Amino acid sequence: MNFAGIIIYTMEKVNLAEKLSVFSDYFNPRIAGELNGQQVKLVKFKGEFVWHHHDHEDELFYVVKGSFDMQMRDRTITVNAREFLIMPRGVEHKPVAKEEVEIMLFEPATTLNTGNIENELTVKNLQKI
Ligand code: NI
Repeated sequence: MNFAGIIIYTMEKVNLAEKLSVFSDYFNPRIAGELNGQQVKLVKFKGEFVWHHHDHEDELFYVVKGSFDMQMRDRTITVNAREFLIMPRGVEHKPVAKEEVEIMLFEPATTLNTGNIENELTVKNLQKI
């Protein structure tokens, strides 16, 4: 951490399996990298998240392992391992995972996981791993 309290990421490669092995809870994203005001987050889903949207941020969901259904009001898209989906700002969505899925997110640092909703699933202070 530098004098301004900002985490400076050293130039080291990141092993996704290694980072994903340090936590086991669901819907609790961790920060694995930062660049240009965006964050690379790692998260595991199992079960149903909450309907929400983001007014100002597009979100990228890249599936590392497993699969999940991205529900939207008019359709559902199943995203499998080694596929990604970009959820445009303003579009209501709800991720649902029947089994555990490992996901890499790429989105602006300002993005709150539950978007316009605040409930018990909201995570404001993300752990850096
Ligand atoms: Ni979202």
